[in-house]
Amino acid sequence: MIYLDNAATSYPKPQEVIEAINDCINRCGANPGRGTYSMAMNSARVLYSTRERLAKLFNVSDSKNIIFTANATLALNMAIKGVVKEGDHVITTMVEHNSVLRPLTWLKEHLNIEVTKVDCFNDGRLDIEMLRSSIKENTALIAVNHASNIIGGILPIDEISTIAKEKQIPILVDAAQTAGHHHRDVEKTEIDLLVFAGHKSLLGPQGTGGLYISPNIELEELIQGGTGSQSRDPQPRNRPERYEAGTPNTSGIAGLGAGIEVIMNEGLEAVRKREKALIDRLIDGLMAIPDITVYGPKPKEDRVPLVAVNLAGMTCHMLAHTLDKAFDISARGGLHCAPDAHKVMGTEETGTLRFSVGFFNTEKEIDDTIMAMEKIAKDSSVK
Ligand SMILES: Cc1ncc(COP(=O)(O)O)c(C=O)c1O
Repeated sequence: MIYLDNAATSYPKPQEVIEAINDCINRCGANPGRGTYSMAMNSARVLYSTRERLAKLFNVSDSKNIIFTANATLALNMAIKGVVKEGDHVITTMVEHNSVLRPLTWLKEHLNIEVTKVDCFNDGRLDIEMLRSSIKENTALIAVNHASNIIGGILPIDEISTIAKEKQIPILVDAAQTAGHHHRDVEKTEIDLLVFAGHKSLLGPQGTGGLYISPNIELEELIQGGTGSQSRDPQPRNRPERYEAGTPNTSGIAGLGAGIEVIMNEGLEAVRKREKALIDRLIDGLMAIPDITVYGPKPKEDRVPLVAVNLAGMTCHMLAHTLDKAFDISARGGLHCAPDAHKVMGTEETGTLRFSVGFFNTEKEIDDTIMAMEKIAKDSSVK
C-alpha cells in the first residue's frame, strides 16, 4: 500500500512512537497531576517532557504556555472563542480549514461578529494589501493559516504579524500543516496564539494537538472542570491547568513526544527538504501527463508536501476510488474541509484529488504513483 494522505494524518508512525505509547500505558497508567504517588508522578513527567520538546520546537521560553488538546480543531476553537467577544470584527483568509471557518460562522450567528476573508491568489499567495486595509477599530483577531491544506502555499506569517503588531491586534496562526515541517519561532515572530496538530508532521498518534498562548494574552478558557492541582472552585488561572480540564491523553502525548524527538534527531530542515524533493518529483511527473491539471504554487516554489490535481473525464472521487482499488494507493478526493480554498482554485464544484507525502514515503512510491496516474489517464477501461 502506498499512503499519500499524510496531510490528514501521518502514517505509519515511527516505531519509537508506538513503543512510547505502549510503555506509557504499561508504566504510567495513573492520572498526571492528580496524586503524588510514583506512577502519577511518572505520568506528570510524560506531559512535562513532551511540553518541553514542543517549547524547543517552537522556541517558547516557558513550556507552561503550551496547552495539550485532542486535535487542532479543539485548539482553534479555544483560541478563537477565548478571544472574540460580541460585536467584534475578525480578519481571516480564503484558505482556512473548516476548523477556523465554522467557529467564526458560529460566532457570527451567536455573537453577531463580523468576519472579513482576505483574498488569496490561486497559487496560494495572500493579498496582503487587502489584509492591511481590512483592519477596523474593532478588529479583535487576525486568524490565518500557515499553509493551506489543499493549495499547499505558505502564507507570509512574519509580514502579517508585523501588520498585526502595528495595530496591536492578536494574531492566531493555524500551523496544523506546518508544525514539524516548516520552522516557526513564535517568540521572534511575536505570534500570540499558535495551533498545531500532533498527528500530522509531528508524527504523534491521532487524538493529539495543542495551542501555544503567549503570556501577553489572557485567553478565556473554553471548558471548566477538574485540573487536579487545585480542587477548590472556581477554575484555577495558572497555566497550563486553566486550559487542560479533564484527564489528558497521556499515552498519546507520550507518543507525540517520541514523534517530535524523531523529527528533531533527523533535523527539521532535512525532513522538509526530503519531503519537498518527493512532492516536486510527483508534481513534475503529473504535469507531464496530458489531461491532468495540477493546482497550487508553481513547481519548485515553497509549499507543504501536498498537491491537488484533477483528471479530465473523471471525478476526483472516482479517481481516488480507482487509485485505491486498482493500485492500492491511498489519496483523498473532495473539498478537504476547506471550501473557500476551492473557490480560490476554481474547483468549488468539482473538488480535487489530493496527494500528500510524509516522513516514510520513498522515491519509488512516487514513481509508482505517477505510473498509476499515467495508466488511468491513458486507459479508458480503467476510467
Ligand atoms: C489547516 C488545517 N487546520 C486544521 C485542521 C484540523 O486538524 P485536526 O484534524 O487535528 O483537528 C487541519 C486538518 O486537516 C488542517 O489541515
